[in-house]
Amino acid sequence: MKKQNIKKKEAATKQNEAKLQTPISEVESRRQFLQKLWKGLGVVASVEVIAVFFGFLFSGKKEDQTLKPKQLFEAGNVESFRANTVTTFRGGRFYLARLLDGGFIALSLRCTHLGCSINWEEGKNRFICPCHSSSFYINGEVQNPPAPSALDYFPILIENGIVKVDIGTKLSRTRFDKSQITYT
Ligand code: FES
Repeated sequence: MKKQNIKKKEAATKQNEAKLQTPISEVESRRQFLQKLWKGLGVVASVEVIAVFFGFLFSGKKEDQTLKPKQLFEAGNVESFRANTVTTFRGGRFYLARLLDGGFIALSLRCTHLGCSINWEEGKNRFICPCHSSSFYINGEVQNPPAPSALDYFPILIENGIVKVDIGTKLSRTRFDKSQITYT
């Protein structure tokens, strides 16, 4: 009887050991799984960072392309425009203003209120809209409302002393800013 009891106890002990070993191996495999998961997530995050970086570079190239002139209109030689004067180009649908400091800005003929054609008043040094009397300074800034914003303008390129206006690219703005002026 004693021998039988001893054998039963030994068998029970082995079973308990086996039960205790199983959870340890499960914990290890979970740990390994988590390590692999973290490594995998790390790789994914790295790939995303690289993709964002290249996406940024690529979008920069796109912006450069949009800045290329679309339709250049030759306005004339730089010297033929005196400071503080405005020249009308009805064919190109813009006014070319040469400001007091010698810089150029090409302005849309359209009033920013409801789109009527504005006129340049030489004596008063301003643009006036015949529809609701908005007026604008020589640089296109609003002088009197109801016009809500400065006149639209076109990019200017000066090549070999010739002023060229990109009439295919009209730019809107809220206010006049010096960065909108082109110098020789
Ligand atoms: S359209 Fe020019 S003021 Fe109204």
